[in-house]
Amino acid sequence: MRLADASSLPAAATVERALTTAAAALAAAGIETARVDAEWLLADVLGVTRGRLGVEPGRALTTSEAARYADALRRRERREPLQHIVGTQAFRDLTVRVGAAAMVPRPETEILVEWALAWLPRTPPLVIDVGTGTGCIACAIASERADARVVALDVSPAAAGLARANVTALGLAARVTVVESDLLSALGTGRADLIVANPPYLPTAVIATLAPEVSRFDPRLALDGGPDGLDVVRRLVADAPVRLGAGGALLLETAGGEQARAVVALLRTAGFGGVQTRPDLAGVERFVAGRTR
Ligand SMILES: C[S@@+](CC[C@H](N)C(=O)[O-])C[C@H]1O[C@@H](n2cnc3c(N)ncnc32)[C@H](O)[C@@H]1O
Repeated sequence: MRLADASSLPAAATVERALTTAAAALAAAGIETARVDAEWLLADVLGVTRGRLGVEPGRALTTSEAARYADALRRRERREPLQHIVGTQAFRDLTVRVGAAAMVPRPETEILVEWALAWLPRTPPLVIDVGTGTGCIACAIASERADARVVALDVSPAAAGLARANVTALGLAARVTVVESDLLSALGTGRADLIVANPPYLPTAVIATLAPEVSRFDPRLALDGGPDGLDVVRRLVADAPVRLGAGGALLLETAGGEQARAVVALLRTAGFGGVQTRPDLAGVERFVAGRTR
């Protein structure tokens, strides 16, 4: 079934009938999570929780609801990420606004935040989040460490704008500052307790092989780490020590496996001690951290 069919949802379609039609259209578009996506989109259109849909399967959609649902389905069929259509993504305890300006936050990055929080000193910490995107890491750290100040950097003006909007919407503007910057270059001379980054780390050639939701809709700048994925990481590891106080930590997300081992070597070569890795939810060693001596 093509979306043209889903877009012709009859105005009087019930919730269950609309979901069945929509799930078939999304499955035909190659979306593996078709039924779940159909439910999220309808819940968003109706302004209810996803669970509520099961309570009122016989509720009829109004003409306006059917039209808005058809529009959302058309976007999803073109493989626009669900989060772009709904406009938000949950990240740890927060809900952040998402869009074309920045990569949609991923669940594994929540582990990076967990680890960053554990590496912070007991004293009020200064944290730098490099490549902040939506601002998810910066906001989560500030939200979960009420005495933390965070400087969130991104080279993309559009991403910095989205991060600023999230910082303000989440009430964190007193402690999170967003700055447009190529890596750490726009910073003054202060020293941070921790630098955290989920940098672009994909080898360029891999990007075209990824799902359309990623290859066509996440910004290229958020993904592309050059021929071996490490162009940005190499520069950041080299620049980080002068921005960290003694015993300051650098925590990075990587693609895992061989790349994580390469990043461990980069940190050691740059003089970091106690270099460690930590696995993601699938057990792949993805995160790398070390401290200045
Ligand atoms: C993988 S995304 C991570 C976004 C966000 N931190 C997250 O975890 O969802 C990488 C981010 O780094 C930014 N970026 C890429 N090159 C950069 C550079 N040289 N300096 C600063 N930011 C950069 C991109 O614009 C993008 O927002």
